[in-house]
Amino acid sequence: MSGLDAIAGIGADRRRGGYSRHVFDDAERHLREWFVEQAESRGLEVETDANTNLWAWWGKPGEDAVVTGSHLDSVPGGGAFDGPLGVVCALEAVDLLRERGFQPSRPLAVVVFAEEEGGRFGVPCLGSRLMTGTIDADRARRLRDTDGISLAEAMGSFGADPARIGRDEGALRRIGHFVELHVEQGKGLVDLNRPVAVADSILGHGRWRFRFRGQGNHAGATLIDDRKDPMLPAAELVVAARRAAAATADGRATVGRLVPNPGGTNVIASAVDLYLDARAPRGARAMVEDLAEQAMELASQEGCSVEVVEESFGDTVHFDAALRDRLCEVLDDVPSLPTGAGHDAGVLAAEKPTAMLFVRNPTGISHAPEEHATVEDCEEGSHALARVLTDLAG
Ligand code: GLV
Ligand code: MN
Ligand code: MN
Ligand code: MN
Repeated sequence: MSGLDAIAGIGADRRRGGYSRHVFDDAERHLREWFVEQAESRGLEVETDANTNLWAWWGKPGEDAVVTGSHLDSVPGGGAFDGPLGVVCALEAVDLLRERGFQPSRPLAVVVFAEEEGGRFGVPCLGSRLMTGTIDADRARRLRDTDGISLAEAMGSFGADPARIGRDEGALRRIGHFVELHVEQGKGLVDLNRPVAVADSILGHGRWRFRFRGQGNHAGATLIDDRKDPMLPAAELVVAARRAAAATADGRATVGRLVPNPGGTNVIASAVDLYLDARAPRGARAMVEDLAEQAMELASQEGCSVEVVEESFGDTVHFDAALRDRLCEVLDDVPSLPTGAGHDAGVLAAEKPTAMLFVRNPTGISHAPEEHATVEDCEEGSHALARVLTDLAG
C-alpha cells in the first residue's frame, strides 16, 4: 500500500475525480520516474524498449524470462488500482522473494506497458500491440490525440524514436511466461467470497468511431424541419447499441464518449463523433456491423451522413489452460474467472504462455474512482504472485 500511496498524488483529476494518467503526459512521466526509482533502489536494471514499455530486470536481462507487471496509465477519471496494483504487487513480490533468499533459475522482469487504456491515442494495449505487431506501426504513428498531436510527434517530444516502433522480436524472445496481476473489475470474487482468482478468458472486444455529419446551424433561427442535426442519429444510435447488446449473448455496448463539433449550446452541431466500445464472447463485430447499417438509416432520415471506422479489435482470449491449471494448483485451488475487461496479458496470450491473477474488488466498480481493493487482499495478491514466480522461476 505504501507503493500505491507514493503515487496517490500523481495524476489526480480534480475536475473528473479519480485519476487521469495518459501516455507521455506529465503524470505518466512522473509515474515512469517513480517506477525507475523503485526498480533501481532494488538493484533492478531498467530499460525502455522501442515501444516505450519499461522493463526492470532482476539479474541480467535474458531470454525465456518470467515476466510480471501491468500498466500505470489510466482511463480519464479512473481508479487507483487498475494497472498500478499489478506493478506495485510485482515489486512487492520481488521483495518477498529476496527476503526469502530465492535465487531465480531464469531471468525475472517487471514490465510496465505503455498506453494500456488507449486513453490518449484511442487504441488500448498500444504498447503490447506494437511489441507483438498486432497494430501496424505506420498506422500507430499516425494515431492522433484530441489535441491533434500524433503518436509520432508525442514520442518525439518524449525523447523516443517513432521510427523504431513495431514488432520487437528481441523483447518477445525474452518473455518465457507473462503473469499479470490486476484488480478485479467486476464482482466475481465478492460473490465467491475469495480474495484471489486466476483468469480464465477475456471477452472479445473492440472500439469503433461513428462520425455523423450534418449542417451546423443556428439553434434559434433554424426551423425543426430544416435541420440536419447529426446529434439526432447519434442519440438514437446510443439507444440502438444498448438494445443490440441486450440481444447478444453476454454482449456489452457502451458509448462513453460523444463529441459534438463545434460543441456550443446554441449551435446545431455540424458533426458528432460517437465512440462505441462493444464486447461479446462471439459476435461483437457482427453486432457493430448491424449497428453501422442502422446508423446509415438513422443518418439519412435526418439528411446526415455517417462514416464508421474500426479503431481496434481483439477476439475472445482463452488463457493457456495448462498454465492456468498450474497456477490454480500452486495457489491451493483458487477459483478461475472470466473477465469482460481487456489487458496486455490478452494481447500477449496469442504468442506466449500467459496468465492473470485477480484481486477482489469489494465495490465491483472499475474505471471509476470507487474502484477498490483492501490492504489484506492486496497482500494476498502479492503473496500469490510471489508463489507463482517462485514456481515458474524456481
Ligand atoms: C481496459 O481496462 C478495458 O477493458 O477497456
Ligand atoms: Mn482499465
Ligand atoms: Mn488495466
Ligand atoms: Mn447570435
